[in-house]
Amino acid sequence: MTGGPDPAPVIGLMSGTSCDAIDAAAAELGFDGDTLVLTPLGMVSDRYSDELWEALAAALPPASTTLAEVCRLDTLIGRAFADVAVRADAELCGGRAGLVVSHGQTVYHWAENGRVHGTLQLGRSAWIAEATSCPVVSDLRARDVAAGGQGAPLVSIVDTLWLRGRPGVPAALNLGGIANLTVVPPDRDPVAFDTGPANVLLDAAVRHLTGGRHEFDEDGELAARGRADPALLHRLLDEPYYARPAPKTTGRELFHLPYLRAALAARGPLAPEDVLATLTRLTARTVADAVRAVGATEVVASGGGTRNPVLLGAIRAELDGVPLCTSDDLGLPSAAKEAYAFAVLGVLTVHGLAGTVPSCTGARHAAVLGSITPGRRPLTLPVPRAAAPVRLRITGAPGDGSAPPPPGPGGGGSAG
Ligand SMILES: Nc1ncnc2c1ncn2[C@@H]1O[C@H](COP(=O)(O)OP(=O)(O)OP(=O)(O)O)[C@@H](O)[C@H]1O
Ligand SMILES: [Mg+2]
Repeated sequence: MTGGPDPAPVIGLMSGTSCDAIDAAAAELGFDGDTLVLTPLGMVSDRYSDELWEALAAALPPASTTLAEVCRLDTLIGRAFADVAVRADAELCGGRAGLVVSHGQTVYHWAENGRVHGTLQLGRSAWIAEATSCPVVSDLRARDVAAGGQGAPLVSIVDTLWLRGRPGVPAALNLGGIANLTVVPPDRDPVAFDTGPANVLLDAAVRHLTGGRHEFDEDGELAARGRADPALLHRLLDEPYYARPAPKTTGRELFHLPYLRAALAARGPLAPEDVLATLTRLTARTVADAVRAVGATEVVASGGGTRNPVLLGAIRAELDGVPLCTSDDLGLPSAAKEAYAFAVLGVLTVHGLAGTVPSCTGARHAAVLGSITPGRRPLTLPVPRAAAPVRLRITGAPGDGSAPPPPGPGGGGSAG
């Protein structure tokens, strides 16, 4: 491997649309010629405190909020991310972490008429730099938006480097709050987009229908007992977002509880199990339609939705023969995949390399992403690399069996 002595581990921090937990994945990342090599070191995950989760949920779209609350959330989320980063450094990196890359918590993704005009992630990096002493790369989406892109799905460059060269037309599917797909054809530019909801409506329905007693449909048990309702499914599938051409991204700004309640009110009374079965089918159908539309021949799934066997079964059924495996099968733990992907993006940034694929995000050009907050020592960056890597190789994952905590309270914006 080139690039001098063993590089210090990198920590990627992520909390997605579901706001279920802050995930921290640690990895060793280095260059081997034109290959970026990632060795997973593991993942730790912590839920927001109930108090912070409630404050966040109350501020997210479609609610309105105040600047005072935004300042408070930015601080409290920054501290919460810092706590998880410190834990990851101690438990996974032996205190040797050299860089932290923080996605932050999306609270608003300003999409209008198919264009993204702004995107806001909270969780001020100063807290993370202060607590870990490491430099922090943060605010990764904004630069792609400024370059005319959707600012998402940002993991598309990682998926492209990782899946390129596999036979057929591989596609990476992340089942977070929102589902996003990256398709890597051998002979054309890759494309990526959000297909629609993965878990966000399922979680909203469970919370709503159980009066807040449950936060998600654990193992799809409710959905398994119900039957998809054709009228409700038909109404939900009428959503114009699904028919829009890529690149496109969405989030809680569109798919929120009032959206679901309006559809339920139009349908009339339904058993909760049938609502869950219908929403599970909605995710499966919209994902499979997207997979078919792009001609993918293989789907590699990741994200919390892969822990829901009923959802995975429904997707497999709708895919009608297109094989689906999980990213674990290819060496990248599915619960931690997004956090690892952000670690990769930060490493690209500090080496002066672009973190986007314009055909995926719709940007005018590829851009070096993020803002860098110095750590305790003066900021020194690696010598910029002249050439971007052409592939990502995952090496021997040392037992990343660490199960994430049960999904918890939920909150906003497009992720992935
Ligand atoms: N055992 C399970 N059974 C059913 N659903 C589960 C289970 N475990 C996780 N989930 C679902 O996965 C969701 C969390 O997934 P994940 O963390 O990938 O999403 P996210 O935080 O929104 O990330 P992103 O938007 O970046 O992809 C939970 O909110 C829940 O709906
Ligand atoms: Mg999550």
